[in-house]
Formats: sequence, structure tokens, C-alpha cells
Amino acid sequence: MSAEADNRHEVPKKSDVNRREQSVGIRVTHVHPCPFSDIAAALREGAAALASVTDMPHLEAEILLAHATGLTRTTILAHPERPLSPEEGVHYGDLLARRATGIPLPYLTGRVEFFGLDFVVTPDVLIPRPETETLVELALERGPQTVVDVGTGSGCVAVALAVRLPRARIYATDLSRAALSVAVMNARRHGVANRIHFLQADLASPLRGPVDMLVSNPPYVAEEEWASLPESVREHEPRLALDGGPGGLRVVRRLLADAARLLRPGGVLLVEIGAGQGPEAAALARAVFPPARVQIYPDLAGRDRVLEVVL
Ligand SMILES: C[S@@+](CC[C@H](N)C(=O)[O-])C[C@H]1O[C@@H](n2cnc3c(N)ncnc32)[C@H](O)[C@@H]1O
Repeated sequence: MSAEADNRHEVPKKSDVNRREQSVGIRVTHVHPCPFSDIAAALREGAAALASVTDMPHLEAEILLAHATGLTRTTILAHPERPLSPEEGVHYGDLLARRATGIPLPYLTGRVEFFGLDFVVTPDVLIPRPETETLVELALERGPQTVVDVGTGSGCVAVALAVRLPRARIYATDLSRAALSVAVMNARRHGVANRIHFLQADLASPLRGPVDMLVSNPPYVAEEEWASLPESVREHEPRLALDGGPGGLRVVRRLLADAARLLRPGGVLLVEIGAGQGPEAAALARAVFPPARVQIYPDLAGRDRVLEVVL
């Protein structure tokens, strides 16, 4: 590969631009040239810079360029010849450099889509996963009027339920105050903040029943599997949101006890679980609720995903 081709793969860093500014003795942000000549070059060089951290480097380069410029992806793709301003180029270069270190894309854009809704995310919350939509769909099918969402994180489950169940009263808890701030922000964005009561709590400890449903996507990564998680998850997402202790079912066991205390007769517990945790989670549930209906539902990929207990 020629030296020229090599250089095309380098991501200009903010610090390089600042150094250039300092070398002329004054801060002249509008004079130095943009690190990328136009949109086409920015996408080409961005995709090359991201190839080692993602399977979708072209798509991610488009998303980061849209975020840096404020343009839509459609506009970006329709105008490859549009030049970038120096500020846009520096912002984009900075995003690429951070993504190349393994920071997940949603933490850079601050946004993720879940259940067709746009959610704000920060590194204080788990990035909502598509498989959690299975949990929301099952909850909606049961049509509860009083729901407790335990470990609400970004609020994605509670907010999706509140949007789709306009008469439901929802309580959402989390141990993390920082996560709850994000959840409140998301509830306000979707106009449901007045119907969700957010509480900083250990599981559902301050709540009194009876309620129709207890729903939760708890931390369920088995301690033994921690090392095999992708580095981007292990290094950047909150450990409190992931670590389920030895075997992964520590929080699930405690949720079963909370369900016994809170659910009305005929009430429903829905808990997201890890692929392969189905048999053990079902056995735990049957031990706590011998007469209950216990079922494991798969996600769209056919893996164990949700434990349901109907009292
Ligand atoms: C897997 S994340 C789920 C976040 C969100 N509900 C979702 O589905 O994307 C688990 C959440 O549970 C919270 N959490 C962990 N232990 C908790 C506990 N003992 N009590 C309350 N929340 C807890 C974490 O802070 C985290 O926000």
C-alpha cells in the first residue's frame, strides 16, 4: 500500500488541529482547512477508520457524519460533493477517533431507537437492546393497568409501556440515580412523565401491592461469562446493569420474592433472561410458585429470552 493510501486511513484528531492553531500563535478556528475535502471523502475515510471496530463501518460513518453536521443521512448520501466546514470536519474526526477506541455508537450520538421510539442514552445507562422488545410485546399483550418496571435504566421499557397503555399507572425503579435522570428525560420527551413514578430503590423494596404486573430486564450476565463479553460492552456499559453474579440469576431470585409480595392473584411477572438460562429460571420460579403457570419465551433469534410467571 502506498504512503498516500495509508494516510487516507488516518483520522484527524481535535488535538492535531489545535496544535496547528497553536503553531501560528493565535486561535483561528475558521482559517485552517477542513480535514476532509467533502462528504464523499469523509465517508470513505471514516469507514476505513472504523473497519476494525464494527461490521458496519459505512453505515456508522454515515451516522456519525450526520451527527457531526446536523444533516440527515438522506442528504449526506444525495450530496457527496458538499464540502465540510472546518468545525464539521473536526467534530466528525473527533467522533471517529472515539468510536475507533471502542466506545459504542449510541454513546457518541446520544440516541438509540427502541420499540419505534427515540431514546436518549448516556454511559450511565445500558444501551437498550432489540431483544428487550420481546419483553415489551409480551407485557403489552397482557394489558396491565398497574405495572412496576424494576431496573428501568434509560426508561425504555416503562416509557414504551406508558406510550402504548395510556391508562396504565407505572412505577419504575433503579439503584442508579444517574440512570433515573436519563429515564425521566426520556419520559418527558415522550409526554408520559406524569404517568410514571420514578423511584431510586433496591428492586421494588419501597413499593406496596397489589399490582397487575412486575416487569424487569435485570442484570443477568453470569460472573463466569464476564470475560467473554465483547470489550465494547465490558469496558463502556455500566457493570451494575449487566453483572448478575455467579450463574447470572442472583437478581432474578430476588425478583421472584418481590413478585410474591407485590402481585395480585392472577398477576404476571415478566423477566428478561439470558440465552440458555431458561431451564434454571423456570425451575426457580416453580419452586417459589408451585401452582403458577411458568413459561419461557424465545426472542426473534429463537433463544431463551423471557421468563413469565402467572400467579
Ligand atoms: C440490564 S439493565 C436494564 C435497563 C433497561 N430496563 C433496559 O431494558 O434497557 C438493568 C438495570 O437495573 C439496574 N439495577 C441493577 N441492580 C439493581 C437493583 N438491585 N435495584 C434496582 N435497580 C437495579 C441497573 O442500574 C440497570 O439500570
